[in-house]
Parts: sequence; C-alpha cells; structure tokens
Amino acid sequence: LFTNVPLAPVDPIIGVSQAYKADPSPNKVDVSVGAYRDEQAKPYVLKCVRAAEERLLGATKEYLPIDGIPEFNLASAQLLYGKAMNGQEKRMVTVQTLSGTGAVRLGVIFIRKYLPAGTTVYASRPTWVNHHNICKESGVPSAEYTYYDNKNNCLNFEGMIADMRAAPNGSVFILHLCAHNPTGCDPSKEQWGIIADVMAEKKHIPFVDCAYQGYASGDLDNDAYSARLFFERGFEMFSAQSYSKNFGLYGERAGALTIVSHSEAAIPKMLSQLKMDIRAMYSSPPTHGARLVATVLGDPALRALWIDELKQMSGRILRVRKELYDALVARNVPGDWSHIVKQIGMFTYTGLSPAQVEYIVKKYHIYLLASGRVSIAGLNSKSVPYFADAIADAVKV
Ligand code: LMR
Repeated sequence: LFTNVPLAPVDPIIGVSQAYKADPSPNKVDVSVGAYRDEQAKPYVLKCVRAAEERLLGATKEYLPIDGIPEFNLASAQLLYGKAMNGQEKRMVTVQTLSGTGAVRLGVIFIRKYLPAGTTVYASRPTWVNHHNICKESGVPSAEYTYYDNKNNCLNFEGMIADMRAAPNGSVFILHLCAHNPTGCDPSKEQWGIIADVMAEKKHIPFVDCAYQGYASGDLDNDAYSARLFFERGFEMFSAQSYSKNFGLYGERAGALTIVSHSEAAIPKMLSQLKMDIRAMYSSPPTHGARLVATVLGDPALRALWIDELKQMSGRILRVRKELYDALVARNVPGDWSHIVKQIGMFTYTGLSPAQVEYIVKKYHIYLLASGRVSIAGLNSKSVPYFADAIADAVKV
C-alpha cells in the first residue's frame, strides 16, 4: 500500500542540525539552527522562565480554550503593537498558535479561504525556507520578491520596491519584523516608510513574521518598528509571533497570530473561523509555554528580568560577531567581511558558496547551512578562531 510513497527531501535547516548531532567528532560546532546558545555552546533556559515555571508548579493540565489563553493573546498583541493599539483592540483578533510556524500556517489558510482566489503570497529572496513550504502545503500560490544583493552583501532596496510595484494589487507580502532570516539585513526606518507607501498604493497586505523581536537591537519597541508603522498607517494586516527565540521556548511551541481588520463587525466572525480551523487541526494549543509567557509579561519584576536577559543574549551575539570579523581580518582572509558586523540578529549571511560550506562541514565538522547562513549564537570565544581558520582555508577552494 505504501511502497509508492517517495522519500521527502531533508529539511535544509533541521537536516543540518541532525547531521551535527550524529557527528562523533569532538571538534564539531553547530551554527545551523537559529537557537540561542550560551558562551559554553549550551542551550540556555532564561531565569525569568525558570521563575515563572516555579510559580506554575501544580497548575492543572486542563484543555485551553480553542483560541488559547486570553491574557497571553492580549499581552502578545500589546508586546508587538505597543501603544499604537490603544483603543483599536476591537478591530484586531489574536489567537494562540503553535509558535511562529503555526501562526504563519493559520494565517495562510485564512488567506486561502477569505482573500480573493489566486491571491499570491510573496516572500523575500532569500527567506526562511519554511515560508514556501507552508504556502505550498496550504494550497496558496507563493512567489519571491527581490531582497538581497549577494554581490555587495546588502539589501537590494530598489529591486525590492520594483518587485512590490510589479506584483498584482492586493498581494500578500511576508515581511520580517526585524533581524531578517537568513540575511541579518533589515530596511532602515526611512526605507520602511517607502515600503509602506508602495504597499498602500498597491493595496498590498503586510504579513509580518516576528520571530526575533528583542534580538535585533535588544530593544523590544525599536524592534517592533515595522509592524507598528503598518498598523499606524491603517493597513489591514497579519502578524505571526514566535516566542521560541526571545523566550528560549523552542520546543514549547508558543506563538500568536494577529489579524487587523478595518471592520470591528468582522472580528467575531474572523475569530469563529480561526477557531474552526484550529479545532479541526489540533483542537487547542499547548498550555505550558503560553502560561510562561503570560506570567512573565504580566509581572513587572519578571518582565524586567526578561528584558535584561534579552539584552545579555543579543549583546553576546554582537560581541561574537565582532570577534569573528576581527579574526578574519587578523588572518588576512581575502574579501570584505564587514557585512558580518553590519548584519543584525542571530544570523550572518556569510556569502560562502555551497562548495565552500561543504568543505567546512566535511573537513572541520562545523555545521552551517548550504546557503552560507551561520547562526552566530552557536559560536563563542573558543570556537571563533577555529571557525575563522576554517573560513580562511575554505576561501581557497
Ligand atoms: C531557523 O531558521 O533556524 C529557525 O527558525 C528554526 C527553524 O524552525 O527553521
């Protein structure tokens, strides 16, 4: 019966981290998946999360409402939209999701069902690889818009704007809130303004993917600039939030989807449809991660501790970025590596070719993505010189 099932391709991100885990080499280094590691290259459970966990000991394991914990949903929308949403809550709907992937998936299903047939979802070239998978599996056409200038290692803003203008009116554009994955390269505030102008002219719909709020500048409000700009300009829009990175809740699957409408009257109906989709897919969301987030966000002392820890994590990444750059310069590695310190967030898009990446993986057991993306969070002062040696060697290939 099942002999015709073809083997699916290995995921370009998760597959690399699995290969790392299977490698017995004592020298191995994992810079594949976007997950924070401490200076000892170990996973880090935030102190604010541990404190919230203590408070939650013994909490019941009852089912949550289909749309999740109300306090979590409200706190999520407030975290992203800030003061901009005051008085506007009635034209927004937020539901708890299975982290960012679940939020994007639910939003894309909503697009297929309630936006005009054939509405295309545009994602940046390059983007997080799962965006296109999600659209494909949801039966929604997806396409790419220009984003990155591979030659000069920077944003190709003119190309991006030209593609937004060329797309059919009313297209959906997935935009990364901040700390673009995989390039680490964001538009400036001025450029966001121009993007919003063009999106408005073309009646495009922003779908803001928010996986790294707090990781770009270390300032939650500053990192939320683009979502708040679209909101304040009156767009109908989607946002997908993940608490995997900024709370370190990777496996807990805590996230939120918010849809902003012009119509208050549409909101109860939109919520009813989202709930129907959730119920049919997984019935209700998991409790633990969302309870942790709601506890931390709802307690001023824990929230302050969280902000402090976020600053420490993003600060460590910044320091390691600089160390890597300095190590490449010290080794006179040919090429301009300044993009490593200009890029922000968890990743650096090195510009290494697939052949160079393969060489590094095979010879040095350093696991980076074939696209050349490196999770800086996986490095530390001990592994930076080894990685810089590997790059110095690989660029000769
Ligand atoms: C990544 O880009 O490495 C993370 O978002 C993890 C994932 O699910 O791909």
